[in-house]
Amino acid sequence: MQKLIIKGRRELSGKISISGSKNATLPILAASILSNQVKIKNVPLVKDIFTMVELLNFIGLKAKIIKKKNTIEIKNREKNINTLAPYKLVKTMRAGVLVLGSLLTKYRKAKVSLPGGCAIGTRPVDLHLFALKKLGAKIKIKDGYILAQAKNGLKGAVIKFPSISVGATENALLAAFKAKGKTILKNCAIEPEIKDLIKFLKNLGANIFLKGRTISISESKIKTTKITHHVIFDRIELGTYMIASALLAKKNLTIDKIDPKIIKSELNILKKIGVQIEQKKNSIIIKRAKKLKKINILTKPYPGFPTDLQAQLMVILTQAKGISRIKENIFENRFMHVPELKRMGAQIQIKDKTAIIKGPTKLTGAEVMATDLRASVSLVLAGLIAENRTIINRIYHLDRGYEFLERKLKKCKAIIKRV
Ligand code: EPZ
Repeated sequence: MQKLIIKGRRELSGKISISGSKNATLPILAASILSNQVKIKNVPLVKDIFTMVELLNFIGLKAKIIKKKNTIEIKNREKNINTLAPYKLVKTMRAGVLVLGSLLTKYRKAKVSLPGGCAIGTRPVDLHLFALKKLGAKIKIKDGYILAQAKNGLKGAVIKFPSISVGATENALLAAFKAKGKTILKNCAIEPEIKDLIKFLKNLGANIFLKGRTISISESKIKTTKITHHVIFDRIELGTYMIASALLAKKNLTIDKIDPKIIKSELNILKKIGVQIEQKKNSIIIKRAKKLKKINILTKPYPGFPTDLQAQLMVILTQAKGISRIKENIFENRFMHVPELKRMGAQIQIKDKTAIIKGPTKLTGAEVMATDLRASVSLVLAGLIAENRTIINRIYHLDRGYEFLERKLKKCKAIIKRV
């Protein structure tokens, strides 16, 4: 098992370039099942993407990653398509469940492994199935698999989600693409990654309109010509490096290949706690924060503060003066990083889904264990500001979602190495 070793308190300087978004690429890869040939650019080379490409090839598409260009080329020759997403591929990469909507709407049947839970929660897919049934799918759960079929194809419907779900919105969008007539989805998630998926589907020929939290789709004719899509930048990776810069920039640090308009709420929160941010068209310059102020935050669906940045924000709040509170509203068990941060000296109490953080506290290096993707990167941030050395175990969690993390940090003078 690989580990990361970090020598703390090194000042960072220079520039960090943000990679493409994993959470935009995954549904777009699932959507490529609907196309004939696509080229997807600005793809992050991370484990979840490799697993999704493996799944597409298992289904029978020809998907190839051109690593040096961060590009994936996909051809769908419609020959011996296997509408199966097996447990072995879905268990490590839950977003594999997103092929359900595409397979069902195009091939009228699908057998997809239930994704199962993960460290942060049970992660049910009832909302996905609720939407597909509304579109006329017959769904059965058997031996840990979702067996779905639509003998006469899917039929458009008006669907109001009882609660906001990114994955369920994406699966319903994909299923509605070839459903007869018109589909109206209400109370949708509207994350930038979903808007990027909509942009891809429109490029594929879809008639889709997004207004507020309502998305309407009418039956679409797929373009047979090759389409190219440039994936949006990863706003969670951006938030992570903004926090690293605020904590450790020597003078300031530039982060580029981004669109600051998309992360207004994250920028406002960081400014509120005292991070100095200068916004440019496609980059931001972060100055080291002189003094950090406490804040109370609750995680919400976009455009609220993202749950995927909760663990990273917690680290910077250990350095803010006073008592801060973070309420985790989205997942039931997303505080796995807290015991590890406490072993590094952080003063954090958990009380019914709220983390109460007392600062400023000096963090000292320790041997710690990553538990899920975003928790593991909060341990990297803590290691960067802690005294002495921090060893992070189980960094395969990191490799699922952060492209070239050590390389990007080393380039900014951090002392971090993988063993
Ligand atoms: C997506 O997960 C992201 N993953 C997550 O990022 C992100 O944390 C999450 O959205 C919230 O923003 C990808 O995009 C691949 P949800 P998803 O459906 O779609 C409950 C990362 O770190 N729910 O919006 O699974 C669910 O349990 C990952 O990159 C149901 O009850 O999230 C959760 O409490 C982690 N039934 C809440 O809704 C359902 O059918 C929001 O989940 C679906 C979800």
